[in-house]
Amino acid sequence: MDKIVLVTGGGSGIGAAIAGAFAERGCRVVIAGRDESKLVTAAESMAQNGAQLRAIACDVTRREQVRELRQRIQELWGDVQILVNNAGIASAVSFADMADETWDKTLETNLTGAYNCCKVFLPAMVKAKWGRIVNIASTTAKVGYSHVTAYTASKHGLLGLTRSLALETARVGVTVNAICPGYVDDERTRENARIMGENTGKGADAVLKLFAVAAPQNRLIDASEVAELACLIASPEMSGMTGQAINVDGGAVMQ
Ligand SMILES: NC(=O)c1ccc[n+]([C@@H]2O[C@H](COP(=O)([O-])OP(=O)(O)OC[C@H]3O[C@@H](n4cnc5c(N)ncnc54)[C@H](OP(=O)(O)O)[C@@H]3O)[C@@H](O)[C@H]2O)c1
Repeated sequence: MDKIVLVTGGGSGIGAAIAGAFAERGCRVVIAGRDESKLVTAAESMAQNGAQLRAIACDVTRREQVRELRQRIQELWGDVQILVNNAGIASAVSFADMADETWDKTLETNLTGAYNCCKVFLPAMVKAKWGRIVNIASTTAKVGYSHVTAYTASKHGLLGLTRSLALETARVGVTVNAICPGYVDDERTRENARIMGENTGKGADAVLKLFAVAAPQNRLIDASEVAELACLIASPEMSGMTGQAINVDGGAVMQ
């Protein structure tokens, strides 16, 4: 698959797995995020096997930076054909204790950040009559979870964006879909388990087991499973699927 791909938040976790999977398939991949040194390290390690991968710093909440990112990719390779909106943040806190800033920042990153990228990168897809947008949502996009109100609201919103944009692009060769992972076995999940383990006195390992048992398969999801689905959804063969939100969650949520 020789496509130009942008993965936001591609310097770590699920985004890095997605970027690596597209690169393995012969795509030219840009990973974007706020921390340039983290991005460069990730890009260097992924490029070791000959992958065409570049790191470009960009905060998706800053519209001028997103426009600048488009400009830089345009000069490098051309128009982005596959956009993976993966950048996201999460804080676990009760609604009563949540600071207003947590709400604002979470919505701004997880929802408005994806909107900003769609707004900037969609026009070239429409012009080319081909494009793929893959939004990395979460099972929290489908059902409510306690102590993650802002995150849950942002991911529900991301599904709204996915579905409405899918309707508006349905006849122009562009598909817009979402992936809803459950608990993924990555650094972020382990850090969340560590914090929750500390706060509850249960310990990180016990909390990780609770995360796993929340899924009927009684396991965490591997980031590569999300990456494989992202590549499938974005493939030229999948032109008939749009407006969908697919769970990769070991059976935790069946809707
Ligand atoms: N881990 C899970 O269990 C799980 C489950 C369901 C869904 N998800 C979703 O999967 C996505 C990836 O999460 P992850 O688990 O891989 O966590 P992660 O390693 O923390 O990845 C998040 C990435 O987003 C980037 N990012 C954050 N704010 C940004 C901004 N304003 N502009 C640009 N990039 C930004 C971060 O890089 P910088 O800090 O350098 O900007 C980071 O590379 C998120 O959308 C998350 O909600 C995760």
